[in-house]
Amino acid sequence: MKIAVLPGDGIGPEIVAEAVKVLNALDEKFELEQAPVGGAGYEASGHPLPDATLALAKAADAVLFGAVGDWKYDALARELRPEQAILGLRKHLQLFANFRPAILYDELASASSLKPEIVAGLDILIIRELNGDIYFGQPRGIRSAPDGLFAGSREGFDTMRYSEPEVRRIAHVAFQAARKRGKRLCSVDKANVLETSQLWKDVMLDVAKEYADVELSHMYVDNAAMQLVKAPKNFDVIVTGNMFGDILSDEAAMLTGSIGMLPSASLDANNKGLYEPSHGSAPDIAGKGVANPLATILSAAMMLRYTFGKTAQAERIENAVKRVLARGLRTPDIWQEGATKVGTRQMGEAVVAALQE
Ligand code: IPM
Ligand code: MG
Repeated sequence: MKIAVLPGDGIGPEIVAEAVKVLNALDEKFELEQAPVGGAGYEASGHPLPDATLALAKAADAVLFGAVGDWKYDALARELRPEQAILGLRKHLQLFANFRPAILYDELASASSLKPEIVAGLDILIIRELNGDIYFGQPRGIRSAPDGLFAGSREGFDTMRYSEPEVRRIAHVAFQAARKRGKRLCSVDKANVLETSQLWKDVMLDVAKEYADVELSHMYVDNAAMQLVKAPKNFDVIVTGNMFGDILSDEAAMLTGSIGMLPSASLDANNKGLYEPSHGSAPDIAGKGVANPLATILSAAMMLRYTFGKTAQAERIENAVKRVLARGLRTPDIWQEGATKVGTRQMGEAVVAALQE
């Protein structure tokens, strides 16, 4: 079980250190190797995804990823910005299936900005396609507009595209995930306007024939954004493309009021995966020891479940996190009156202690 550990920037190193402690407390034979990525990669060797880091990630069975990005790199050319590291890893490792659960822990029910009755018990899973769409579609660029009313002026353009096999493979992943949960799959598109979405929808309908036990519905993305805040508990599993999934998964994360709690997994066709918290690098609180390590710790649990097939160990970690929350330990992002405020390291150590119980 070889794990590439890529802490990255901002709070990345602090939160990854706690997840590593949790992994090391499990009594399993993990081989961990660390490498710089994002801004740290740029500082180390002039590129956000250094060759050695990519080679390490390729050779590993799984990647534990912290976060990348810092304002100080905002002025760099796009191909050198920290975000390119995560896009590059997704593409090079063919991590096309992104799992983003949004779960509201009972202990944190009042952290949501929505009314408790709308979000209590929330447990939805967004499956986002990660290798295609307007994120990677060619051609793209900035040019002189070749035609139209504004011919000759500067224009930016990107290409939204999905091929049938790309949609088919994410459809299978989504139907199989839905089958293991509430058996309801909602495919989100914009088929009333976009050709890409029409193909997406047609392929979803076709794949559905192989999953008679799963109920498939379709929703336009604008309506899905609305339903997510109106009646989020009506969803079970959502499957959508790269761009819509980027937006809806942030919205879904915020329903829980605690983005610091949400893990994510990005998988290839053989369950190799990259595991990272859903939140970003939070440079404003980096180095202060106050970041919430739980999303990263729960990402390590997802790694045990999806890549290593160690369900019992994954549940051990998840239960340890619940016990720590039940005892009232809270990092500042989820702290409320009456709870015990702890820092990053104390939170990690409390989870390690709870593991042994
Ligand atoms: C995410 C992030 C990334 C994305 C950025 C950092 C490139 O927003 O993982 O959702 O857009 O996919
Ligand atoms: Mg995003």
